[in-house]
Amino acid sequence: MQTEPAPGDDRRDFLKKSCAVCVGGAVGVVPALAGIAVYLDPLRRKADTGLLARVTSLESLPADGTPVMFPIIAIRTDAWNKSIAPVGAVYVRRAKGDQVQAFNVTCPHAGCAVEFQPEKKGYFCPCHNSLFTPEGKRTDGSPSARDLDSLKSEVRANGEVWVQFQNFETGKAHKVAVS
Ligand code: FES
Repeated sequence: MQTEPAPGDDRRDFLKKSCAVCVGGAVGVVPALAGIAVYLDPLRRKADTGLLARVTSLESLPADGTPVMFPIIAIRTDAWNKSIAPVGAVYVRRAKGDQVQAFNVTCPHAGCAVEFQPEKKGYFCPCHNSLFTPEGKRTDGSPSARDLDSLKSEVRANGEVWVQFQNFETGKAHKVAVS
């Protein structure tokens, strides 16, 4: 027996389909963010100290000190909106013991992005063929007035690696934070 749709059925169908789209979208976004593995702690964000970001775990970093790059994604919320936007990237490497070192990927000479190249044993800047050691030091011939910009980092008791992300002005001999 066939029945006529009751008044309001179309509206309920529309709402059901809309919800399915919303849930499907959310499920698709979560794995993408988890893959980036960067979360911000809004309670600890201060304008003068950059963005505090959880980037990885200590056990995920290569034991031989090879740096790994992580994008930094800012999640900002206000009373009405929540926005997600990339604000930069960092290289993180194991140093001695359970310590880590973190660097902003932006070259302090003129702002290009450096890339760690194992065959060159350092971070290479393609803009002026400049090389920085894995510890972020300039090598001979680099036009940069300072070493790579190191960032504060910490390994917490549970093994999480947190980095205080900050951009700095380029072309200067000393780090000047960009607010
Ligand atoms: S921008 Fe990197 S060396 Fe010039």
